[in-house]
Amino acid sequence: MQKPKISIIGLGYVGLCTAVAFSSRGFSIVAVDVDKKKVDMINNGKAYFYEPQIDDFLKKSLKDNLLYCTLNQIQKAVLNSEITFIAVGTPSKKNGSIDLKYIKQVTKQIAKALKNKKTYHLIVVKSTVTPQTTNTIIKNILEKYSNKRCGVDFGLCMNPEFLRQGSAIKDTMNPDRIILGADDQKSANMLENLYKQFYRKNTPPIIKTTTPTAELCKYASNSFLATKISYINTIANICQKIPNTNIGIVAKAMGFDNRISPKFLRAGIGYGGSCFPKDIKALIIHSKKLNYKSQLLESVDKININQPLKAIELLQTQIKDLKQKQIAILGLSFKPNTDDMREAPSIIIINDLLEKGAKITVYDPKATTNAKKIFVDKIQYAKSPIECIKNKDACIIVTEWSEIKKLKTQDFKKNMKTPIIIDGRRILDFQEFKKETTYITIGQS
Ligand code: UDX
Repeated sequence: MQKPKISIIGLGYVGLCTAVAFSSRGFSIVAVDVDKKKVDMINNGKAYFYEPQIDDFLKKSLKDNLLYCTLNQIQKAVLNSEITFIAVGTPSKKNGSIDLKYIKQVTKQIAKALKNKKTYHLIVVKSTVTPQTTNTIIKNILEKYSNKRCGVDFGLCMNPEFLRQGSAIKDTMNPDRIILGADDQKSANMLENLYKQFYRKNTPPIIKTTTPTAELCKYASNSFLATKISYINTIANICQKIPNTNIGIVAKAMGFDNRISPKFLRAGIGYGGSCFPKDIKALIIHSKKLNYKSQLLESVDKININQPLKAIELLQTQIKDLKQKQIAILGLSFKPNTDDMREAPSIIIINDLLEKGAKITVYDPKATTNAKKIFVDKIQYAKSPIECIKNKDACIIVTEWSEIKKLKTQDFKKNMKTPIIIDGRRILDFQEFKKETTYITIGQS
């Protein structure tokens, strides 16, 4: 079977990973973005963010002549392909609802191209959008500006993406499942065939459903994972108050129950990133619009907003007045293996420490450039974990990078003024560190 040509609009994590994944398996891709710097970097074989494996995939796709990125040329890209993926961002508005302005802009361009197209074309929405966006707003724009009928002259699918930053390529190549939302059979079959051509023998379970159900699958999954985290953090905060308890053991014990599973039960200073905080807020607002107040989701969000401050609460059990105190922050990104600082707990922690008058030095293997855009010269930037903790009154572990996990008691004892360690990710050996340092970790006493 011939491989269809694909266009991808929007080259964020989702768009770029989809582009390099398809081109790595022989599909011809034309990708479009509005940011010249991003487009130039990608055409030179370099992603504009840190993500394991992505540059190798990108270089191979360019060498094989299977990927080409253009600036703003949406109509041309649609005319030169049979399937178009929309992967532009849907950022949060101030009130927490999602901003559809990029989706609307690109959809209009796609529709204008459809108007001049003689053959059937399939549009696939990969961006995260709240239920009924695809079958109302997107469909209406497509029909209005193309003068064609959805389900007859062109197809429309909603196909949410579940990749995780830090393992984005691995996740794209081996997803747990594919959610295929379509409100007509022809669209659904065309996208199903594309994925069968791509994954062949390794095609994951494909769940075919309506577009609003597909949209809700994404929000429900992310909200559930966020709920697991806020739940275990609640139990950790309770543990903190009961002598001789250990949240690590509680989570392990819970995880052996296969109805619960051990995943996403790592207690700490809360979740961050570009998805969980945004998606949970969007679902809360969307439910409100539907006249349903979700107390559960509101609590999950609130617990998470407060959780980074637990690290400071624990620090203040040792140093009450933080004024002029020298504090080291180990790790800045919202999780390891990414340079992404979006909604990172480190931001809340650093801002609160600054407000309390502390002097801050930070270290992160990848996120320093992005952190400098946020904190500029309000804090000091170290080039290694040891430089970061040198002569400090205390340190807080914020992100569980492997090089931070490797630090030994001696590293802290030899280099810090006083070896007070607040482990916000529970990564160091409790017994050993408790013996040698002032070691405090969330959920264990
Ligand atoms: C998430 C979803 O996992 C992914 O399916 C979706 O497409 C996008 O959002 P991502 O944001 O890349 O992916 O990160 P993830 O690995 O899910 O972690 C999110 C946050 O939760 C991180 O800040 C992480 O530190 C935190 N976390 C995760 C915990 O605090 N405890 C855990 O047990 C697991």
